[in-house]
Amino acid sequence: PKKPVVGPLVGSVVQGTSSTRFLVFNSKTSELLSHHQVELTQEFPREGWVEQDPKEILQSVYECMARTCEKLRDLNVDTSSIKAVGVSNQRETTVIWDRLTGEPLYNAVVWLDLRTQATVEALSKKIPGNNNFVKSKTGLPLSTYFSAVKLRWMLDNVVHVQKAVEEGRALFGTVDSWLIWSMTGGVNGGVHCTDVTNASRTMLFNIHSLEWDQELCDFFEVPMTILPNVWSSSEIYGLIRGGVLEGVPISGCLGDQSAALVGQMCLQEGQAKNTYGTGCFLLCNTGRKRVFSEHGLLTTVAYKLGKDKPVCYALEGSVAIAGAVVRWLKDNLGIIETAEEIEKLAKQAGTSYGCYFVPAFSGLYAPYWEPSARGIICGLTQFTNKCHIAFAALEAVCFQTREIVEAMNRDCGTPLSHLQVDGGMTNNRILMQLQADILHVPVVKPCMPETTALGAAMAAGAAEGVGVWSLEPESLSGARVERFEPQIQASESENRYATWKKAVRKSMGWVT
Ligand code: G3P
Repeated sequence: PKKPVVGPLVGSVVQGTSSTRFLVFNSKTSELLSHHQVELTQEFPREGWVEQDPKEILQSVYECMARTCEKLRDLNVDTSSIKAVGVSNQRETTVIWDRLTGEPLYNAVVWLDLRTQATVEALSKKIPGNNNFVKSKTGLPLSTYFSAVKLRWMLDNVVHVQKAVEEGRALFGTVDSWLIWSMTGGVNGGVHCTDVTNASRTMLFNIHSLEWDQELCDFFEVPMTILPNVWSSSEIYGLIRGGVLEGVPISGCLGDQSAALVGQMCLQEGQAKNTYGTGCFLLCNTGRKRVFSEHGLLTTVAYKLGKDKPVCYALEGSVAIAGAVVRWLKDNLGIIETAEEIEKLAKQAGTSYGCYFVPAFSGLYAPYWEPSARGIICGLTQFTNKCHIAFAALEAVCFQTREIVEAMNRDCGTPLSHLQVDGGMTNNRILMQLQADILHVPVVKPCMPETTALGAAMAAGAAEGVGVWSLEPESLSGARVERFEPQIQASESENRYATWKKAVRKSMGWVT
């Protein structure tokens, strides 16, 4: 006999760069009941360009919802118990579509895309002195990473985008906006909105006033009329129209890294988490304070869990390539057939044998912000084999994390005593042990690794008018965790890290 499920349920869309998932949680116990995942196509039409089809992204969400609901029915769970849906998404990726036809006007330009390098250089020259004007308003350095420059590129280069803007048909959004608009009716009254966390990654949003900024829009020459309304991360944005969840409110929306921060219960100042997805993102909650980094970190909106709730900020260390290096070994080099296989190879090697891999495929993000860097594999000998390269790839993820942990420690003054981690790659035990060794502090991983989904579900379930999830501190019990303790001498971590730094220096200045 199947166990009856008690309590209202909450669904969570996790729209990442590599895949889309839909997960359903019991709001009373936080138990994950069922989920479905669909891999996504990434297109690389030219060197440095990364695109995705917005319609494929949308279809993948519908497919995941339908399949998860089927699985729930197989478990005898009544899907009408799903009372709310939260959305968490890859951030910065830029979509522009026609509000009259519902059709995208161009492929989504993905956060990793480098085509705007020349745009960034030209814009930098427009800023008197240094980048402080943009940075002080947005918390972000001028970089190819953020949406404004991608949107600028589309406005400059895609004729029917320009035409649609002139004719008042174009709508801009990050992936959350595109999904929520489409899911709440699209051409038949879809709601054009985003939340403060996603807005804070566009470079058009003033993180002090929490509004689109006229001066920034003028600087990037972006018409304010195409921007979505900005709401909190937890309120009812609209009801789902069509499909298996017809009529269910969408009431949570956060960029995926913010969602993971909430899902890891890092709701107090000073708490931090590191998520290993396509990239790797360490966020430290700085509470109501906007801390401006002296060491290459970003200042970003962490969350605002309700219309009348205070906004919380975070310091963020962003690493562009983490899981993406594993996908590259699989898709481009073919040395593994599945992402999981890397663990076997790395275990077989046990060491990189002096081989260092800097996966600067999209330049280097934090703490360097160096667009001229490109990937290198160095320290090769005739002895080096694919297992050593696999090991070096995993080690690169750990070294990059150490770089952002060190920057965070310097900015915050208090070193992190341990690292809370989550994300797909944390299933890799070799990686987790390596991370503890290279940081030389314990790494702590929740046994339920779906923290991004959990965070979006919590925001959705706690929204006013839904009220099935309590965010009061006493109801947020600590999740069960697994700890990885450092197993090598600190001096060995230091030596390896010093060689990594040497490799990083070699990767820089590759593109001029
Ligand atoms: O800023 C980009 C980030 O949100 C992407 O997340 O999970 O696809 O690595 P992910």
